[in-house]
Amino acid sequence: MAKQIVMLGPPGAGKGTQAKMLSEKLSVPHVSSGYIFRENLREQTELGKHADVYINRGELVPDDVTIAMIRERISRPDCDEGVLLDGFPRTAPQAEALDEMLSDLNKGQVDAVPCITVPDEVLIERLTGRRTCRAQGHVFHIAFNPPKEAGKCDYDGSELYQREDDTVETVTNRIRVYLKQTQPLIDYYQQRGVLLEVAGDQSIDAVFDEIMSALSGV
Ligand code: AP5
Repeated sequence: MAKQIVMLGPPGAGKGTQAKMLSEKLSVPHVSSGYIFRENLREQTELGKHADVYINRGELVPDDVTIAMIRERISRPDCDEGVLLDGFPRTAPQAEALDEMLSDLNKGQVDAVPCITVPDEVLIERLTGRRTCRAQGHVFHIAFNPPKEAGKCDYDGSELYQREDDTVETVTNRIRVYLKQTQPLIDYYQQRGVLLEVAGDQSIDAVFDEIMSALSGV
């Protein structure tokens, strides 16, 4: 089974939802760049304050900052046996930097890239209805994946909130940024023979089954 996994797909495709499930199933840490930025913002670190400006505009945080943050995270011992990256890489320089980091750390190379595709109109509906858990970033949807009790996380009981970048305007820009800066990575990983195409416009469990079956062939 693959060890160094990169989740690819547009904002709202379900990367985070699937990554949490896969991380448990495969016993590899789920490393989400967006979550690390939001945690830093919550703690009001310099990194968080710097990233906030870009996140709220739906733009990407500069590569040098993001690459340094991920390098530090995947250097930790919990990533020794593999990692499930969600939201990184997002640009060609980030993908090249990831290859270098994995090689420097003797962790091999990216060996599977599930790429979840979903039509744009579905993405907007998913993101504007998303509710996220304050404590650990668990993700729900008011219609498609509602919590048992409104406004409360099923897993840790913390408050559910709407991300500031989940407005229609910012989501539209995030999708535009994805098409321009991140979609080219599909070719990058396809040429290396590690891309696994996954249809995201089906139930959460069906998407999970499709990813698991694709990974079992790697
Ligand atoms: P980030 O947090 O990574 O956001 P994103 O990529 O835009 O992805 P999302 O978290 O919005 O969506 P997702 O695909 O994880 O979907 P989810 O599972 O939540 O990044 C935020 C910002 O941080 C960026 O805009 C940028 O500014 C910055 N950033 C982060 N990484 C960076 C990087 N590498 N470089 C530079 N800047 C970076 O699902 C969405 C909703 O749909 C949920 O409500 C869920 O319940 C529901 N849902 C999921 N699956 C299904 C399904 N199958 N059917 C129905 N509903 C579903």
